[in-house]
Amino acid sequence: MDKDIAKVLLTQEQIAERIRELGQELSSEYAGKNPVVVGVLKGVVIFYADMIRHITVPCQMDFMCISSYKGTSSTGTMTVSKDISADIRGRHVLILEDIFDTGNSLEYTVRHLKEKGPASLKICTLLDKPERRNPNVTVQADYVGFTVPNEFVVGYGLDYNEGYRNLPYVGVLKPEVYETK
Ligand code: IMP
Ligand code: MG
Repeated sequence: MDKDIAKVLLTQEQIAERIRELGQELSSEYAGKNPVVVGVLKGVVIFYADMIRHITVPCQMDFMCISSYKGTSSTGTMTVSKDISADIRGRHVLILEDIFDTGNSLEYTVRHLKEKGPASLKICTLLDKPERRNPNVTVQADYVGFTVPNEFVVGYGLDYNEGYRNLPYVGVLKPEVYETK
């Protein structure tokens, strides 16, 4: 796997340190609010597992899955292939995402969850790639781990064709890996 990586963008240590910081912020924001922390599968699983253990106040875990992304660019059509199981009406909801890229999927996710009537809805994304943002997207991330350049990244949950998710760091995939396939 490592041979397909052009460069390491974020090391395990950098990610762990940033998650500790975010954990402190989120723990004070959500003290006494018993939030529902919604992870958007599958890319978020590694970040989710690390992040949730640095939220030191009571919270509820939930997951949803939206389908849309093929290869290295968005298709634009989205469906909820797995919905959350909690009733979030009147609850404080925190969405955890792997990457805020065009923003199309977060926009869709937020619209879907808002229809369920939460008391509040905030977004925490590990990575933000602002250069790729769709200008029609109105949602914004409330918490960002790292802002990344406009390059295709894999690892720490992020995939290319379902591969590389288990790399412990975030790296830039060599362009020839997806150009030759
Ligand atoms: P969106 O373009 O913001 O809707 O991003 C949707 C999804 O595309 C993300 O949740 C990721 O799963 C995937 N994605 C976007 N950029 C990258 C990337 O650089 N590497 C791997 N997956 C990505
Ligand atoms: Mg994702």
